[in-house]
Amino acid sequence: MNNTYTDLVKQTFEFPQEGFDVKDNYLEFNGLDIKALIDKYGTPFKLTYLPKIGMQINKAKKMFHDAIKKNRYDGKYYYCYCTKSSHFSFIMEETLKHGVHIETSFAYDIDIVNKLYEKKKISKETFVLCNGFKTKAYTRAIARLINSGFKNVIPVLDNKEELEDYKRNIRIKDKVKLGIRVAAEEEPSFDFYTSRLGVPPRDILEYYVDKIKGNEKFELKMLHFFMNKGIKDDIFYWSQFNRVINLYCQLKKICPELDSINIGGGFPIKHSLGFDYDYNYIVNEIVANIKSTCKKNKVPVPDIYTEFGSFTVGESGAVIYSVVGEKMQNDRESWYMIDSSFITTLPDTWGIGEKFLMLPINKWDQEYQEVHLGGLTCDGYDFYTSEEHINAVFLPKQQPSGEPLYIGFFHTGAYQDQLSGYGGIKHCLIPSPKHVIVGYDKNGQLKDWLYAKEQTSQSMLKILGY
Ligand SMILES: Cc1ncc(COP(=O)(O)O)c(C=O)c1O
Repeated sequence: MNNTYTDLVKQTFEFPQEGFDVKDNYLEFNGLDIKALIDKYGTPFKLTYLPKIGMQINKAKKMFHDAIKKNRYDGKYYYCYCTKSSHFSFIMEETLKHGVHIETSFAYDIDIVNKLYEKKKISKETFVLCNGFKTKAYTRAIARLINSGFKNVIPVLDNKEELEDYKRNIRIKDKVKLGIRVAAEEEPSFDFYTSRLGVPPRDILEYYVDKIKGNEKFELKMLHFFMNKGIKDDIFYWSQFNRVINLYCQLKKICPELDSINIGGGFPIKHSLGFDYDYNYIVNEIVANIKSTCKKNKVPVPDIYTEFGSFTVGESGAVIYSVVGEKMQNDRESWYMIDSSFITTLPDTWGIGEKFLMLPINKWDQEYQEVHLGGLTCDGYDFYTSEEHINAVFLPKQQPSGEPLYIGFFHTGAYQDQLSGYGGIKHCLIPSPKHVIVGYDKNGQLKDWLYAKEQTSQSMLKILGY
């Protein structure tokens, strides 16, 4: 047969490739035998492959260190993990094993920081960058953290009023470090021009002179910016980036304490086997551009901070489903029904039309066909019908008997649990699937374990008051 799924993939992409290979017609993900996990746990299940997290962190650190060396850049690089992409303790602890710092978004993140300190996973030297529009509960939690002796907490001011809360609540003798987030201009295709997050760039110099300069309690250390669409090699990104670096240089001339630039998150991850992004080139451009702008302005270069979320955890995650039925709704459209829901397990596919890397786990030697994938909820939008590289979904044909078709959505480790709410009530009461973790044991051997069972009817009925 030369119309097999294997033929299709090999004609379209370089395959096998990093993280994906096929042995005896079964897919392997980072060397993991997914079929063995299906046999052990049953579908549907979420999978976290912990070793990938360290690989990503070390990859970014190496790229920045190489670029710093190559450009003879006289500043340091700090990798911060953006907690909101996945707050789970096993994820946070894995990132911290690789020497990261932390970026927070809400008051409850500060409780996580305290827990991690109690468990000796971080120290009072760890950088804690506090982002977001802050409620009183958040500013007070930040103040308490600083009062308790954390030395490198940097509240990143989202607006001009935020500082007043810290003035009232912080009671330490040493100076408190501050950042300011620069409100970014969005792409022309977006729904508005300027991000709601941060302080408009034209107000920043004046605000610094009026409210921070000469203050005995506070010093401005960091300028922060984050583009909603991420770090892209296009004219729009680089023009925004250069505006912020120029602003940094202007500010540096009147604010000698300023010594850090934070470029946020936004590294893309692989959502298709055709993914092509030159991380090394981008990192080198970032470092080289900062250096040349600082040189033109005759100011020292800043330390560089990033807050990668998707890049840190995205590629560690997967969701595995079975195809439990096939429906032919007209003479062309064949639906494969999965044993869960896209809306509830991968909400980005429904909310923002996100694509993930989707591959069958078995039947690579079977003929393929174009199909639509349908979820179990009765919602008309619970479907997945196109991929990143093509406006269609192709999967192996089902056989009337024998093993069902299993499919995997890969690189789903960021945001999906946080957006759908882990546990809790779900659309049409479709339960949260089991969650399997693969990591190393104390002897350095890979092992898998069940972090959470499939959500039960009782747990939902209790929330619903039955
Ligand atoms: C301030 C800030 N930093 C970092 C991130 C992480 O972005 P990503 O997951 O694209 O790396 C976000 C995402 O919304 C953010 O708002």
